[in-house]
Amino acid sequence: MSPPTIAIAGFTGKMARLITASLLSTHPHALIHGIARSPEKVPAAIKTHKNVTTFAASATDPAALRTALRGASVCICCYLGDAALMLDGQKQLIDACIAERVPRYIASDWSLDFRPLALGEHPAKDPMKHVQAYLEEKEREGKIKGVHVLNGAFMEVVWARFTGFVDVERDAFFAWGTGDEKIEVAAMGDVAAWTAGVAVDGGASGFLNFLGDRKSVKELAKLYEDVYGVTPTIENKGTLEELEVAKKAAFEADPGNYNVWRGLFYQLVMLSGKTNLGPLDNKRYPMVEPKNVEAFLKEHTKESVGKSIFFF
Ligand SMILES: NC(=O)c1ccc[n+]([C@@H]2O[C@H](COP(=O)([O-])OP(=O)(O)OC[C@H]3O[C@@H](n4cnc5c(N)ncnc54)[C@H](OP(=O)(O)O)[C@@H]3O)[C@@H](O)[C@H]2O)c1
Repeated sequence: MSPPTIAIAGFTGKMARLITASLLSTHPHALIHGIARSPEKVPAAIKTHKNVTTFAASATDPAALRTALRGASVCICCYLGDAALMLDGQKQLIDACIAERVPRYIASDWSLDFRPLALGEHPAKDPMKHVQAYLEEKEREGKIKGVHVLNGAFMEVVWARFTGFVDVERDAFFAWGTGDEKIEVAAMGDVAAWTAGVAVDGGASGFLNFLGDRKSVKELAKLYEDVYGVTPTIENKGTLEELEVAKKAAFEADPGNYNVWRGLFYQLVMLSGKTNLGPLDNKRYPMVEPKNVEAFLKEHTKESVGKSIFFF
């Protein structure tokens, strides 16, 4: 049997790097086609690996994308950018996959479950919903199978100040609602390992749910105290209804400034439980032993945990 060939678009990004590392260590026969608009940014150790071939292709160059996708058994899209990239760019990549008869496409999601959200309810999730619909249409025509990996929030993101749950520089946690609502999380390295498993598992399609932990803001604060020996404050911000009002006001004040309102959007959909995952697929890939929040905190210092999203 020929080795699986895995095409990874957005090959210079963090998820792509983690997925590649996982594939190379756990599936030594797998071949990787790394697709990047700037392949010179790919670290030399990856670029020169015998199993890796890099291809220069912009998201809007079908011919170059097709060359890079030729012979692939699956394409993993690791794009992260504006709505045009996440929707039109992914559609062009899916079309190129279909033209090259790539049987499966793993969408650039790694998300909370965006399916219950209405369009506009969380603007960053709209392209994911459109890509899901596009893949379903193509799947009905028998052209390709769509795969969506869901994992709640990355653990690294929860500790970043921009998300709004905690400011580690001030040892301060912020609780909308009661503080007991659970947040669903998984560490990026574990999500990458699950995605590598999904990539070589030709039978995996549709939505797959993976989690490392579920913790409330109060529980996060307690773990922070236990691991770092510092008692943080927990500031009550108001009810979830008041969060809804704050979210709308922040968006309407500056709709183009994603950075000022994204944390409120994420907090509302997570704390309300609306985007919680269904039954988990962790057991399908038993080789991945996910870390919980406590283990994650112990891997970082108090000074570094808030910036852990930028480490890769
Ligand atoms: N659940 C969560 O908490 C969470 C948090 C963050 C991200 N995510 C998900 O993780 C995935 C990727 O995140 P990441 O952190 O790996 O992103 P990243 O490190 O920013 O990488 C993004 C990739 O997209 C490429 N890209 C950006 N604009 C492009 C364009 N116009 N044309 C072609 N390529 C372009 C970048 O290429 P260049 O190097 O050339 O710019 C890079 O390879 C996304 O699916 C995102 O939804 C989930």
